Amino acid sequence: MALTNHKFLLAARPLGMPKRSDWTYTEETVAEPKEGELLVKLLYISLDPAMRMWINDARSYMPPVAIGEVMRALGVGVVTASRNPRFAVGDHVTGAFGVQEYALTDGKGVNKIDPKILPLPKYLSVIGMPGMTAYFGLLEIGKPKSGQTVVVSGAAGAVGMVVGQIARILGCRVVGIAGGAEKCRYLVAELGFDAAVDYKAQDVRKALREHCPNGIDVFFDNVGGDILDAALANLARHARIVLCGAVSQYNNTTAIKGPSNYLSLLINRASMTGMVVFDYADRYSEGFKAMAGWLTAGKLRSREDIVTGFGDFPETLLKLFAGENLGKLVLQVADA
Ligand SMILES: NC(=O)c1ccc[n+]([C@@H]2O[C@H](COP(=O)([O-])OP(=O)(O)OC[C@H]3O[C@@H](n4cnc5c(N)ncnc54)[C@H](OP(=O)(O)O)[C@@H]3O)[C@@H](O)[C@H]2O)c1
Repeated sequence: MALTNHKFLLAARPLGMPKRSDWTYTEETVAEPKEGELLVKLLYISLDPAMRMWINDARSYMPPVAIGEVMRALGVGVVTASRNPRFAVGDHVTGAFGVQEYALTDGKGVNKIDPKILPLPKYLSVIGMPGMTAYFGLLEIGKPKSGQTVVVSGAAGAVGMVVGQIARILGCRVVGIAGGAEKCRYLVAELGFDAAVDYKAQDVRKALREHCPNGIDVFFDNVGGDILDAALANLARHARIVLCGAVSQYNNTTAIKGPSNYLSLLINRASMTGMVVFDYADRYSEGFKAMAGWLTAGKLRSREDIVTGFGDFPETLLKLFAGENLGKLVLQVADA
């Protein structure tokens, strides 16, 4: 019996917060793989703040999704048909399969994964792209040393909670910034952060001054805007800022708010460096090994926020911008 593929195609370039009409929900009959191709049945789709950037018509680290194209997304799935010698039916795989139920691919950029090592959603989380971002961003750019103070924004999200835990493993004092009392409680009580600042209820600049009496040595920024300014106002000498993301700015309808406290970089002989995780792709196995080791040893915990309902993709994506996720937001497409 012919299979049906449901998928979301980009229909328009949103101005500000995306809405359902920015995508077309459509269906097609699944084609058979041609020589060299494989068919992947999607089980989980990764929902990432970067997806908002990928649909802007702007120069970035990769070309924008074209109008009419399947919405770009990373995912995990199972091979259901294969005419590619690298893959067999039943293999579990990860790759940029898009927001759809079935993906036909030539296998480029597709990697096999093993659900016996760790549950499948973790391959989109702590041992997937967000985990690699945390690992390489913190170690390669933040260069934290034991005893130093590391502050991370977006701390209760996919990248942030891993950054804070790695910094703790390395012997740093860790302060997280997140929205809401429950997220802050979770960071301190469950993940071992030394302190957490609720940016929705507290004066962040003042709270950072209290929690970081010797200044911030490493600021891992996922949020940008006012929170970046508050961190800049509290830097230690020779501080390193890891510019990972600026989720507070992605849906702006006006110009992005840049840091007004940037002269703090001069005064403190500090640096602010952008990072793109894909630059470390040839070292992912190193990050994977370290993370898997810490997970097995019980030193690192990961949390996935798994939502079902493929047809609700647009609304589920928006949870990221409303702070409704705790941990890595994953859309479950089918039963594993
Ligand atoms: N450079 C790279 O290679 C790379 C790779 C992966 C991710 N990133 C970036 O890393 C950041 C985190 O990504 P993630 O996947 O881990 O997402 P995430 O943190 O799991 O989810 C996004 C979180 O952002 C926070 N947020 C949303 N709007 C905000 C606002 N206006 N002000 C402050 N916080 C806000 C929300 O938490 P609260 O409840 O705390 O507000 C929300 O839960 C993003 O900026 C992303 O673009 C960069």
